[in-house]
Amino acid sequence: MPISPVISRHDFGPNFVWGTATAAYQIEGAVDRDGRGPSVWDTFCRQKGKIKTGEHADVACEFYDRYASDLQIHKELGFDAFRFSISWSRILPDGFGPSQGGRINEAGLVYYDRLIDRCLTLGITPWITLYHWDLPQALENKGGWPNRKVVGWFAEFADICTKAFGHKVKHWIILNEPLAFSVLGYFTGQHAPGRRSFRNLLPVIHNTALAQAEGGRIVRRNIPDAQVGTTFSCSPIDPFTPRDQAAATRVDALMNRLFIEPALGLGYPTKELPFLEGIAKKVAKPGDMERLAFNFDFIGLQHYFRAVVEQSYFMPYLWAKDVSPLRRGVQVITEMGWEVYPESMYRIIRQFSQYKGVKKIYITESGAAFFDTVQNGAVNDAARTEYHQNYLQNVLRAKQEGLPVEGYFAWTFLDNFEWAEGYRPRFGLVYVDFRTQQRIVKASGRWFQQLLTSQKPVH
Ligand code: NOJ
Repeated sequence: MPISPVISRHDFGPNFVWGTATAAYQIEGAVDRDGRGPSVWDTFCRQKGKIKTGEHADVACEFYDRYASDLQIHKELGFDAFRFSISWSRILPDGFGPSQGGRINEAGLVYYDRLIDRCLTLGITPWITLYHWDLPQALENKGGWPNRKVVGWFAEFADICTKAFGHKVKHWIILNEPLAFSVLGYFTGQHAPGRRSFRNLLPVIHNTALAQAEGGRIVRRNIPDAQVGTTFSCSPIDPFTPRDQAAATRVDALMNRLFIEPALGLGYPTKELPFLEGIAKKVAKPGDMERLAFNFDFIGLQHYFRAVVEQSYFMPYLWAKDVSPLRRGVQVITEMGWEVYPESMYRIIRQFSQYKGVKKIYITESGAAFFDTVQNGAVNDAARTEYHQNYLQNVLRAKQEGLPVEGYFAWTFLDNFEWAEGYRPRFGLVYVDFRTQQRIVKASGRWFQQLLTSQKPVH
C-alpha cells in the first residue's frame, strides 16, 4: 500500500522551495566526451581498492545525454527546483582558466546552457553548485587543495561560470560539504584524491575556507541579484554517556562549526580544537582572517543522521570517536550504516539558526539509501518514503517555530554513483537500472508527487 502524505505542501507556505539535489560526477557519465578533462574522481576510481565495488562513473546515469527526458520526470513529480553541479573539467579541461594559459571548452558551456534552458522551459528553477568534489586532475597534479593557488584557480572557474550563466541562474552554491572533500580527500584518504597526511590538513582546510568566501564574492560581483549560499554537512552530536560531553563538544566543533564560523567572521573553533591554531601560526597570510568572511544570503544544510560519540585516547587531536548505531542497538539504519533519527533534523536547524549571521536556511540534501527491489515493474520503498515524511515533519516543526528554513532538496533524484561506496547504496526517488538505463519512479517519488501536486491539503 502506498503511503499517503500526512503533511501537505500548504503547511510549508507558498515560498518554500521543493527540489532534488544531484552532482555532476555522480550522474553525468560521458567522462571523455566533448572535450571534458579528467577529474580526481576519474583517477581515484581507477586505483585498486579505492571504490568498494571497483566501479567508476564513466557512464553513471547517462544524465549527460538523458537530461531532457529525466527533467521531464522531475517536472512530473512536482519539484520546482533542481540542484546540479558543474563539472570543472568540462569547462576547463586543464583546470586553469585563460589567465594561466588554460582554455575554455565551449562544448562544456553549451551543455550546461542547454541543461539550464531545459529547466527553465519546464518551469524548474536551476540551483548551481560550483564545486561538488571533482577537482580537475591537472590541478591535483599541481598540488590540489593543499596548494594555496587553488583559491585563484577556483575563483577563475567561478568567474567563468557566473559570467556564462548568471543572466539565467540566480541561485548559486559555492562548495558542497567542504569538510567532506577536504578531510576525506587529503587526511583520511577515503575520497579522491586519496591523499593521507596530517601535513596537508591545515592548508587544505584553510584554502577551502578561503575559496568558500572568495567564490561568494565572485558570484555577488558578477550577479548582483543572485542568492548566494554554500552547504555544510551537519549532525547533532550527542555524548554516549554524560562523561563524554567534552568529546561531543569537540566533535561538534569539527563536524558542524569548522567552515561556517570563519565565513561568519568568527574564525576557526580553536578553543575546542587547539590544533587549528596552526592555521594562524603557520599557514595563513596577513589579512586572511578577514578574507575568510563572506555574508552569504543563505546556508545549505545537508543532514542525514545524528552522531553519538565517546572519549577516545586513540584518536589524536580529536580525542573522541563515534559510537556506531549497531553498538547502540539502533533499529533503523540505512545501507550507509546511518541511524535514522528524524528529530535530529529539527535540532540541527535550531542549532544553525542560532548564529546571528545565518539569515536563511535551505535543506540542500537529505535522504536515505535502502535496499530496493523491482517487483512487477515497481519499487515500493516504504522506508525511504517514511524517512522523508518524518524528516520533513521536523523541518516543518522548525518552520512553525519561526526558524528561517525555506526549502528542502531530497537527495537524490536518480539512483547514482555513491562515491567510494559505488552504485550499491541507492538514494534516488527514481530507480535506475544501470544495465539498461531504464528509470522507474519509486513509491517515494510518487509520494512526493502527491505531496507536491495535489491541489488541496492532504491530511
Ligand atoms: C553528501 C554528498 O553531497 C552527496 O554527494 C552524497 O551522495 C550524499 N551526501 C549521500 O552520501
